[in-house]
Amino acid sequence: MRKKIVAGNWKMNTLPAEGVELAKNIVGQRTTVSGEVNFLVCPPFTHLAMVAEALKGSDIALGAQNCAAEAKGAYTGEVAASMIAALGCKYVILGHSERRQYYGETSETLNKKMEQVYANNLTPIYCVGENLDEREAGKHFDVVKTQIEEVVYNLTAEQFRNLVIAYEPVWAIGTGKTATAEQAQEIHAYIRKVLAVKFGAAADECAILYGGSCKPSNAAEIFAKADVDGGLIGGAALKADDFLAIGKGFEK
Ligand code: PGA
Repeated sequence: MRKKIVAGNWKMNTLPAEGVELAKNIVGQRTTVSGEVNFLVCPPFTHLAMVAEALKGSDIALGAQNCAAEAKGAYTGEVAASMIAALGCKYVILGHSERRQYYGETSETLNKKMEQVYANNLTPIYCVGENLDEREAGKHFDVVKTQIEEVVYNLTAEQFRNLVIAYEPVWAIGTGKTATAEQAQEIHAYIRKVLAVKFGAAADECAILYGGSCKPSNAAEIFAKADVDGGLIGGAALKADDFLAIGKGFEK
C-alpha cells in the first residue's frame, strides 16, 4: 500500500510567530482526519526550529523547501541539508517549478542536491511539471519524462525507495486553475510507467502527489484517482482547517 501524503508548501509566507501559530492549529485539529494520512509542513528556513518545537509530540512531519547543492563551506546565503536534518526535518522539496523558473535550477544542480539530501537521510519531494505552452503543444509527457530521466534515474534502487514525486503543472500553481482529476490521473500513471522502466515494480510503491490549486473542494475527486497518492499544497496550506480538510479528501 502506498503512503497517503498531504504536504504543505508554505513558500515565502508567514512570519515566524505566525508559522508557529499555524503549526499549533494544525496539531490541534489533527484528530479530525484519519491517522492513515501522513501530513507534513514545509515552512521557510527561518521558521524550522520554532515549528519543529510546535510539532513536537504530534505525527505532523517537518520539511524544508530547498537545500544547498554542497555539503558546507563558503556558500553565502545557502542552507545545507545537514543543517535542515539537525533541526528535525524529514523531507526536502526539490526542483519546485518556482526554483527552476526564478532561480535557474537545472537537473545538474538538482542531482547534487539529491546527493546531499540522501547523505543526510532526508526524503526528497521531487517536483516535475510542464508550463502552459508545453501543455498546449502536447509536450507535457516529454517534459516530465526528461525531468525524471535526468535526475531520478541517477538514484540507486535503495534511494528510490525513499523518494516522493510531486506532479505540479505550472499553469495550475497559484492560479486557481486545477488540472482535472482525469488529467492528473493520466500523467501520474505515465510518470509511474517512466519510473518503472528504471526501477521496475518499486515504482508501484512510490507516492506521487498532485500539486496546483488543490483545495478542500477538489481534493477528494483528485485523490480518488488510482495513481494520485496525495497533494503538495501551497495556498490552502496556510489555513489549518483547509489543510486538514484536504486530508479528508481521502475519506470520501
Ligand atoms: P498552490 O501551490 O497550491 O498555491 O497552487 C502548490 C505548489 O506550488 O506547491
